Amino acid sequence: MAYLTKLKHTGSVISSSNQFGAKMFTVAAGFFQDYGRGVFVGTGSGVVAQYFIQASIPFVFIEKHPAFVRQFHERFGAHVPLLPKDFFTLPMDDSSSGLAECLVVSCMPVTGPFYSERLVEQFRGALNSGSTIVQMSYTPFVRQVRLFERLQKEGFRIERVGTVLMNIPPASVFVLRKA
Ligand SMILES: C[S@@+](CC[C@H](N)C(=O)[O-])C[C@H]1O[C@@H](n2cnc3c(N)ncnc32)[C@H](O)[C@@H]1O
Repeated sequence: MAYLTKLKHTGSVISSSNQFGAKMFTVAAGFFQDYGRGVFVGTGSGVVAQYFIQASIPFVFIEKHPAFVRQFHERFGAHVPLLPKDFFTLPMDDSSSGLAECLVVSCMPVTGPFYSERLVEQFRGALNSGSTIVQMSYTPFVRQVRLFERLQKEGFRIERVGTVLMNIPPASVFVLRKA
């Protein structure tokens, strides 16, 4: 019942569940052999991110909310590479926080008011630069997510690979790749 007990205390309502974190990790781990590094975006309370701290490829963690950055350092230690940055400022290169040629795992919201042309550009850029994106969403179907529908029309491959009901609300895992 991690989603009931690990409240975020930062204005957000509740965390993801451990079941969902484990699912995100299982899906992402299927790509570890293809990449030398990962970029995890949107650590929030850390319930999903905790599974990636000791992954077999190194992850850089990105979070823009100062309260979550502080909470993450308190929980996991200052040695874990968490950058207090906005996803939209990440470069499209193969530097440690660059979005090219890496595995991007994202818990950042991408639906509704979070959709933007800049979001499409960053996702398109990462996919065209050889990266795979594992994205969470509370919206269960590809065609309901404007970002996904748009990228599919551009020829990118987007699959829903799992949904975890033991999460409030139930959440799905999507994999985005260059076709
Ligand atoms: C849905 S919450 C994370 C859920 C997480 N699995 C949890 O259990 O807390 C989304 C997180 O993404 C962060 N975020 C949203 N937009 C971002 C951006 N542009 N760059 C970096 N982080 C962002 C938010 O601050 C928030 O912590």
